[in-house]
Amino acid sequence: MTNRIVVLVSGNGSNLQALIDSCQTGRIRAEIVGVISNVPHAYALERARLANIPTQVIDHRKYPDRAAFEAEMSRVLQEWQVGLIVLAGFMRVLTPAFVNRFSGQMINIHPSLLPAYRGLHTHARVLATGDKMHGCSIHFVTAELDAGAIIAQAITHVMPNDTLETLTQEVQELEHHLYPLVVAWIAAGRIALLGNKVYLDGQELQDPIRICL
Ligand code: GRF
Repeated sequence: MTNRIVVLVSGNGSNLQALIDSCQTGRIRAEIVGVISNVPHAYALERARLANIPTQVIDHRKYPDRAAFEAEMSRVLQEWQVGLIVLAGFMRVLTPAFVNRFSGQMINIHPSLLPAYRGLHTHARVLATGDKMHGCSIHFVTAELDAGAIIAQAITHVMPNDTLETLTQEVQELEHHLYPLVVAWIAAGRIALLGNKVYLDGQELQDPIRICL
């Protein structure tokens, strides 16, 4: 059931907030049934509590290895009968075993126009390269980091006077528009992953859906 969503977080949770707001207004026809954080004091947890969403802290430092940490996550996800796992600033790399278990059910948002700039510090790298375009991507999660099939991207133009701060803010604003949109489509059963291809309304996407805001 893709209308039972669990959001995985590690930090501020502004994307979580955008998803909570969209569930509350009915733009996303689904329920966030829980929020898991690997960081005990993540502000995202406070946002979930304020919205009366169950939370679970699974602190990776308290587990002997990744397998044990992920076994606990799987247990909680199963208990909550998750349909869709939404990574929103979740800062742990997941093992292939975990990712494969939830194949087609787990999405991530990344602050670059993938496949460019996988990994960290994307805004600084865009500025250093002098790119004219930047943005964010939402993709299905696969074992290889930031390399799963891309569903959608939102694009902004990089202006000559852009700084790390302005670019970070602009891309976050794009994220807050794009993530609820894509989650709404998945919850409505409009998007699916088959093999490593994304389908929208039963048609294979040749390119990611691109939105310029
Ligand atoms: C976002 O910029 C997202 O692209 C990246 O982590 C950040 C999370 O921000 N994966 P927030 O915690 O949702 O505010």
